[in-house]
Amino acid sequence: MFSRIAGTGSYLPERILTNHELAARVDTSDEWIVARTGIRQRHIAAADETTSDMALIAIQRALESAGVTADEIDLLIVATTTPDNIFPSTACIVQNKLGVHGFPAFDMQAVCAGFVYALTTADQFIKSGAAKCAVVVGAEKVSNIINWDDRNTCVLFGDGAGAVVLKADEETGILATHLHADGRYNGILNVPGRPVANAVDGEAFVHMDGSAVFKFAVKALSAVAEETLAKAGLAKEDIDWLVPHQANIRIIESTAKHLHLDMSKVIVTVAEHGNTSAASIPLALDAGVKSGRIQRGQTILMEGIGGGFAWGSVLARF
Ligand code: UT7
Repeated sequence: MFSRIAGTGSYLPERILTNHELAARVDTSDEWIVARTGIRQRHIAAADETTSDMALIAIQRALESAGVTADEIDLLIVATTTPDNIFPSTACIVQNKLGVHGFPAFDMQAVCAGFVYALTTADQFIKSGAAKCAVVVGAEKVSNIINWDDRNTCVLFGDGAGAVVLKADEETGILATHLHADGRYNGILNVPGRPVANAVDGEAFVHMDGSAVFKFAVKALSAVAEETLAKAGLAKEDIDWLVPHQANIRIIESTAKHLHLDMSKVIVTVAEHGNTSAASIPLALDAGVKSGRIQRGQTILMEGIGGGFAWGSVLARF
């Protein structure tokens, strides 16, 4: 039994924040941001717009594209690092907003690797027969945990949501999944705060050693791509589309180069979306599908990496 991606959907907040606007606030420039990251703009959620609001719209669009109604869902996983509340899970809030109840719903916290972790988990539910129609959504309001006066981080991130509907299928779907984590690297990318007595003990902003993260990401993403292809018995030429986490165009280009993939076979949204953490892969996937580039029957390799460190890949026949 396979988990077939039956539909995709996404949502981006209306407000676009350009590099030029950021350059008016912190000591940076459009030239620096474009040259070092490839990012030109990012979307920022409204003050009263929550992660669950964005997840809901992305899911509704994915359900529509799959021709599935909400009452067919029997599993919901929300990959997020920016939940609406400490609890309940954002998944339970989204389930309620969808107006359907009873089936399991939970959050997956693996930061920018959240979507590949959640997709892998849903795939296991479907393969084991525990679910037949799963919804996986990556949704983030990263803007809530950004220090807008810190040029090292504020230029990199954005908000948004992307969703897939997975259906049990005997013919085709997810071919292989690989997940990894190495907690020794938790110090190079984190939000070092915790709620204590109605206040934050520490800091609730993203902290990052950019160049250490960059080096780790390039190495780990190339290695997991190799591992995925080797275990699936596929050659590099068998990949029709690479749908990578969108953190930095230089990381994406180096992974593509390692796979001998021309950049015309890579879905790139980093210029328009920035790094939307767990939402970045499903946002890119939906962009690839809706633009007609990703076609049924093609082989796609999704891969993500983020704080923890946690990383992984999902190889699928679309
Ligand atoms: O999803 C996973 C999460 N994050 C990532 O994947 C991000 C990974 N890292 C990166 O994308 C890159 O490391 C950055 C884009 C963050 C930085 O690029 P870099 O080529 O690695 O630059 P760098 O860290 O070597 O910094 C070069 C200089 C530094 O100045 P000094 O110390 O050389 O004088 C920074 O202070 O660039 C400075 N800098 C900036 N300058 C202008 C850092 N941020 C900015 C900025 N504008 N926004």
